[in-house]
Amino acid sequence: MHKRTPILFVLSAMFVAGLSLSSAQADGPKPCVNPNSEFASVKAACAKGGQDEAKKMMKSLVDKQKAAGNEIKCNGCHENLKDYKLKANGKADLKKIL
Ligand code: HEC
Repeated sequence: MHKRTPILFVLSAMFVAGLSLSSAQADGPKPCVNPNSEFASVKAACAKGGQDEAKKMMKSLVDKQKAAGNEIKCNGCHENLKDYKLKANGKADLKKIL
């Protein structure tokens, strides 16, 4: 009986983690700071799944650029990755790669 206790503990911990995950999803995705972006692709991603979706879209853009040999980074255009405040060059740089 004693040997089984840790397994039960792990299982119940996973169950609790699963519960809190699903309740987080019930709140819906975090909306974009600027849901009316002038960039159609950003706007569409924000409408579809908020900041999470915008992040995915940005990541795939960055990956494409990297694959083409253009090393760009999130913080090359964003001041930070908390509210995604843009640097002065952010919009112009995005226009170049869209
Ligand atoms: C070439 C410049 C550039 C790069 C590199 C870039 N972004 Fe962006 N990002 C932008 C621009 C421009 C917008 C649109 C801002 C607007 O219209 O208000 C944006 C919007 C976003 C948004 C939506 C913000 C909101 O809430 O309104 C997120 C999230 C985001 N970027 C995440 C990322 C992440 C994560 C990376 C790295 C994987 C990244 N970006 C790389 C330029 C860039």
